Amino acid sequence: MGITPINKEIEIRNIDIIVSRGDGEGNITYANPIFFKIAGYTQSELIDQPHNIIRHPDMPKVIFKLLWDNLKAGKNIKVFVKNLCKDGSFYWVFAEVKVATNPDGSFRNFVSTRKTMSKNARDIIEPLYANLIEIENSDGIIISQKILEEFLAKNGDDLDSINNAMVKIQNN
Ligand SMILES: Cc1cc2nc3c(=O)[nH]c(=O)nc-3n(C[C@H](O)[C@H](O)[C@H](O)COP(=O)(O)O)c2cc1C
Repeated sequence: MGITPINKEIEIRNIDIIVSRGDGEGNITYANPIFFKIAGYTQSELIDQPHNIIRHPDMPKVIFKLLWDNLKAGKNIKVFVKNLCKDGSFYWVFAEVKVATNPDGSFRNFVSTRKTMSKNARDIIEPLYANLIEIENSDGIIISQKILEEFLAKNGDDLDSINNAMVKIQNN
């Protein structure tokens, strides 16, 4: 959206929990004060905007494909995300996005809770994402997805559990 990324990192403290909710398309319906403070927007600048307002160009497409494939299947998903602030600076988080339902079981909204990312995760994820972006540019997203799935299968306790692999990377 015309923001030029700068090489300035915003530190996320252990006590910071960055929360937002999104509608079925991912438009922001709620953001907590820490969210808009860190992102550098006012609350009114964020509400009703798509979540990709904070998308960083260093994020591989396949991570958001993984996110949406799971959410659309009604599954909660954990992912590491580098986000873009209004002034171009960035922050890394470990996000858990959950599907919330109404008492009758119908879709209510998506809720993302983000916390600080561990050093171990950062050391693993940053080069992985750089590699995935390169692959997306040269070979496309299908190959990128294959490499990501192989990576997650290698890191999880069982082949099916993406979230399990993410938690292991965060906690190691
Ligand atoms: C509840 C929720 C939270 C999200 N949080 C983020 C986020 O923190 N950063 C981000 O880049 N995308 C986030 N997304 C994904 C965006 O909707 C979007 O798919 C992503 O930014 C990629 O943009 P694009 O789909 O336009 O390529 C979130 C989606 C939902 C539903």
